[in-house]
Amino acid sequence: FEIREPENEPYLSFAPGTPERDELRAEIDRLKNMEVEIPAIIGGKEVKTDHQQDVVMPHNHQHKLATVHLCGEEEVQMAIDASLEARQKWADLPWEERASIFLKAADLVAGPYRNTMNASTMLGQSKTPHQADIEAAGEFADFLRFNAYYLQEIYRDQPYSPDGMWNRMEYRPLEGFIFAVTPFNFTAIAGNLPLAPALCGNVALWKPATSSVYSSYYIMKILKEAGMPDGVINFLPGEGADVGDPVIQNEHLAGLHFTGSTGTFQHLWKSIAENIETYNTYPRIVGETGGKDFIFAHHSADVDALVIAAIRAAYEYQGQKCSAASRMYIPKSIWPEFEEKFLDEVKDVKYGDIEDFSNFMGAVIDQNAFDNISSYIDYVKESDDGEILFGGNYDDSEGYFIEPTLVLAKDPHFKTMEEEIFGPVLTVYVYEDEDFEETLELCDTTSPYALTGAIFSQDRYALKQMADYLRQAAGNFYINDKPTAAIVNQQPFGGARKSGTNDKAGSAANLMRWLSVRSIKETT
Ligand code: SER
Repeated sequence: FEIREPENEPYLSFAPGTPERDELRAEIDRLKNMEVEIPAIIGGKEVKTDHQQDVVMPHNHQHKLATVHLCGEEEVQMAIDASLEARQKWADLPWEERASIFLKAADLVAGPYRNTMNASTMLGQSKTPHQADIEAAGEFADFLRFNAYYLQEIYRDQPYSPDGMWNRMEYRPLEGFIFAVTPFNFTAIAGNLPLAPALCGNVALWKPATSSVYSSYYIMKILKEAGMPDGVINFLPGEGADVGDPVIQNEHLAGLHFTGSTGTFQHLWKSIAENIETYNTYPRIVGETGGKDFIFAHHSADVDALVIAAIRAAYEYQGQKCSAASRMYIPKSIWPEFEEKFLDEVKDVKYGDIEDFSNFMGAVIDQNAFDNISSYIDYVKESDDGEILFGGNYDDSEGYFIEPTLVLAKDPHFKTMEEEIFGPVLTVYVYEDEDFEETLELCDTTSPYALTGAIFSQDRYALKQMADYLRQAAGNFYINDKPTAAIVNQQPFGGARKSGTNDKAGSAANLMRWLSVRSIKETT
């Protein structure tokens, strides 16, 4: 058994006239006209609860897609029992057999279930066909395949054995269960957080975001079809504290794999600290949280490239990527050209119903997100230190729509330059060309986050200077490119400072966090 280095899953085009366009549309119609009941899945069994919630489409919140059953303490206890029961057999399974389930799941995601993954992500999370396909199909299949390949490489890494002894490392799963808490914005990340530890032989409790539970549920179906044994991944939709509190208080918690807000991550970390004497083993904590991702331009920047990068990074998926650009630094000498070209381009950015495939943007995820983002826009409208240069309209009468918005900040510490908004709002600060170095320092120190960032220049010395100044400002750093859309096995993803523990998703470094090594010396 040998896993050859995989290739990234190619994306589909969905251009008019392509078969995939018609197939996707048919799948959207099928799913829309079928109301689903989403249970918890514990020990392989569907569990219904008496606490339910409607799942609606963000771009048309009157349209109900599903009813989800929300879990509480009782279901959490059942899931812990089921996971501990499944644990030993799963850990003892030859790793090749575990890997083969993941490789089968990847082929199902990229093949027969591709339309389901994409359509459920579009309907439930308001993604365009392209934004869905690059991750719900492409990135997800990549995570499944590359992680299996990385694990093979990890297992092969063995220590030196001089004559007379046999030294080896046994890569054991952690002793307990992993708690995976997943975000709404990427179906692939939602799937990867419970699955990466599971591949290493761990069992997991998975709390999906309630706002994206629709596509997550299809992941559970695919895993079942791929042969995932009961109890290895237990699916627990629910409110944060209802699920989180009893999980964190359990002695068998061995790890937290988290993507979501900084506040929730810090809350969970503190709760783990408070319970530290309870646990059998110190829980591994891996988290990816917020960002205030930047684009920094030098006066030598290619303005056309800068405009396209800014629009794509700020507005694709409505700015709801943790990698989305939300603050920009532009020198005065190129600002007039940038402004003119940006305004000319952004006026053609269409937003609206994602079932109209020509739209570039859909709706933001829910009422809370809409209220939060629109409150920032209102703040700018009322402030003397910020000005809306484009957009600024919003409307939640049918769906949670927010116009792509460009803000000019007079002060580099203006609120929208500093705070994470998680929506389609890009703020620009125009600096004096001679203040290049001070502005780099400002860029580094303005935000507590360090997830992604991009620099633009056609001058090699300037690029070097910018990269040096901003060494700690981003875990994923882009030169003359947009700071979004990292690809598995090409740009391992994650940030430091308040953005997370930087245990790069889609890399061997992440998998190592779910393994506990027994170092064995045998005298021969
Ligand atoms: N991995 C995504 C990106 O790079 C964000 O989570 O855009």
